[in-house]
Amino acid sequence: MKILVVGGGGREHALAWKIAKSPKVQMVYIAPGNGGTAQNSSHLNGITNIAISGIKELAEFAVQEQILLTVVGSEVPLAAGIVNHFRSLGLKIFGPTQEAAQLESSKDFAKQFMKRHNIPTAKFETFTDANLAHQYIDKEGAPIVIKADGLAAGKGVVVAMSLIEAHTAVDEMLSGNSLGSAGSRVVIEEFVTGEEASFIVMVDGKNILPLATSQDHKRLLDHDQGPNTGGMGAYSPAPIVTPGIHAKVLREIIRPTIQGMEKEGITFTGFLYAGLMIHPSGDVKTLEFNCRMGDPETQPIMARLKTDFVEILIHGVEGRLNDIEPEWDTRVALGVVMAAHNYPQTPQTGDLITGIPAEDEHHVVFHAGTTLKDNQLLTSGGRVLCVVGLDGNLKGAQSRAYAAVDQIKFSGAQYRKDIGHLALKRK
Ligand SMILES: Nc1ncnc2c1ncn2[C@@H]1O[C@H](COP(=O)(O)OP(=O)(O)O)[C@@H](O)[C@H]1O
Ligand SMILES: [Mg+2]
Repeated sequence: MKILVVGGGGREHALAWKIAKSPKVQMVYIAPGNGGTAQNSSHLNGITNIAISGIKELAEFAVQEQILLTVVGSEVPLAAGIVNHFRSLGLKIFGPTQEAAQLESSKDFAKQFMKRHNIPTAKFETFTDANLAHQYIDKEGAPIVIKADGLAAGKGVVVAMSLIEAHTAVDEMLSGNSLGSAGSRVVIEEFVTGEEASFIVMVDGKNILPLATSQDHKRLLDHDQGPNTGGMGAYSPAPIVTPGIHAKVLREIIRPTIQGMEKEGITFTGFLYAGLMIHPSGDVKTLEFNCRMGDPETQPIMARLKTDFVEILIHGVEGRLNDIEPEWDTRVALGVVMAAHNYPQTPQTGDLITGIPAEDEHHVVFHAGTTLKDNQLLTSGGRVLCVVGLDGNLKGAQSRAYAAVDQIKFSGAQYRKDIGHLALKRK
């Protein structure tokens, strides 16, 4: 069978890599893919990059090539209705419809939804009028969090520690139009504290299948300093998600969300990712929903998945997720993102990458911003690679990942030296 993966980042490389390992699969097409997936083309159960974008064109390709199943990596095509379009042509695709994807594509939608269904989340108000927003900030005080309503590729949230920062964020988003239409409405919410974790499940419309737990690192620099990024590293499992927290999240957040959507006439299918804030008291709040897997959480999660992922995906599109129990590698997987010089502002591109170690049972390197040109691997984006190490404990996985990172060279490479620090501290 043939499978299509939509996207070209590290998450999509990890998905395609895992799918290509299935004995059922003859070819994984990835649109557009990256330098890493291009290198895999020679494998027997290979991966082929295809230079197609646009929902209509992708659907035409899926029809022509008799693609059995399509998996979508990023939020943008989901919010644009790729699932609706594929289904209208009778094509199988695992993901949420445009209506369901509002849980991610509109922070206001998600917050109002959580309020209606008593799903724990920070207190908030939504504004389109800057004066009212300023008044609310003065009334509530700092710290306070300002969020652009629409999709902003990780650049739409300002955690304001002072009133000045909060007012400036509102001015930039609402009056200054800094994020375009994504920022023409803002959610202003209470600052909540604790430790963050990512909780990702697969949903087939009625059944919920939780994936392995994970935690990522949003800030650019060690000790969680510096600007927010798309994510600088992740590991799985996340020890903060104890069995008790796991059960509570399913009970208080995930199930009420799926049931609430159904009650409102929206059947949820696809990956649902709840960004959690876990307070030391055990109180858990939902910071946000994503309607897809996380990047870089997907990389360590896929590295630990032992079950045939295609089997799971087929159960997903056929409404049979209750019938499958994924098996996870008991080891810890830890992924370190190597980013380009000047990421996240204006990353330098076109640098030669050398020294990527071959995959073995302890390492796998997933590509993101890379391209293969005249047989040379060059950087082509902000986050370049995610280097995953696997070992019996977190420290071992960390040492293996960093040993591989040390072998990899490209000009201006930057990466955090402390991926996994929160989990290490717990022990
Ligand atoms: N209410 C909040 N209190 C404290 N920190 C927050 C709050 N909401 C978001 N954050 C911080 O901002 C980051 C980004 O917010 P999030 O809602 O996940 O938006 P996005 O991922 O779309 O940028 C979170 O990972 C968290 O670190
Ligand atoms: Mg987030």
